[in-house]
Amino acid sequence: MHKLTVASILIGFLASFTTAAPTPAKVLVPGAGFRLASTVHQVPDGGSLAHIDESTIHVLDAAGAVVKAVTHTPTKVKSAVEPLETGWVAYASWLNTGSSPISSFKTTFTVPPVPAANHGQTVFLFNSIEPNSGDAILQPVLQFGPSAAGGGSFWAVASWYLVGDSTFFTNPIRTSAGATLDGVITLTSSSGSSFNYVTSFSNIAGTSLTATGSAQLTWATETLEAYGVTTKADYPAGSTVFSAIDLVLSNGNAPSVSWSTVSDSPDGISTKVNTSGATNAEITITY
Ligand SMILES: *[C@@H]1O[C@H](CO)[C@@H](O)[C@H](O)[C@H]1NC(C)=O
Repeated sequence: MHKLTVASILIGFLASFTTAAPTPAKVLVPGAGFRLASTVHQVPDGGSLAHIDESTIHVLDAAGAVVKAVTHTPTKVKSAVEPLETGWVAYASWLNTGSSPISSFKTTFTVPPVPAANHGQTVFLFNSIEPNSGDAILQPVLQFGPSAAGGGSFWAVASWYLVGDSTFFTNPIRTSAGATLDGVITLTSSSGSSFNYVTSFSNIAGTSLTATGSAQLTWATETLEAYGVTTKADYPAGSTVFSAIDLVLSNGNAPSVSWSTVSDSPDGISTKVNTSGATNAEITITY
């Protein structure tokens, strides 16, 4: 028994308050914004994700052993653009409505300079792909600032898969301004309505994330997403050019692609298609 002091009584008193009404911790994830920390899971290095049924995902380690079973409920991932430049600020997108699935989606871009200001804001840049339902997203992500994966006032990369209200990510790896990133999403095989994907920055080891048994992913995007941004200095200076954008279908053809764009004009953030189409396309987001 420890001695009962005023301090320990006070701590006990405060603890009884904080445990009586705990506020569930929320963490930031690319694609969807803030989510309950308990729904966000790191995938072991070399591990993968397997859809087991409509609501269960197994997290597997590199040897294929199940380390965790996670259940999820349908939830839209894309967070709306709100005032204060929160969420998907600027992006280009294309929806595959054809009968042949997207088999490969590649994008190259350069890590921008770190933002001039740093007060805990988060900037995400990525190419991504979602199912028609909008309740999943697979994305190799560049981030500046904090997220559920860690991070800080530096650039880092990780691959993420969100499905329903569950989120999975690979161990983030630091990178720096000027580095070239090749974000790749590949359909490796499919059977009926079950699709197996892998995503990575193909030129950065340790970023590969496999998800098997997914829904078909149809909506391709090039995205700037941000949280806690208050002025332009919170963004990198200049622009980010998503280049060498290549989309290929399972039938071997390049689809006929017309990119739709969303800009944040009141805040001076624009999305421009420099080169349209599905082969060597180029899209510029200017801050
Ligand atoms: C692409 O568009 C941006 C924004 O309009 C422009 O600043 C840039 O010069 C263009 N790039 C090329 C290669 O035309």
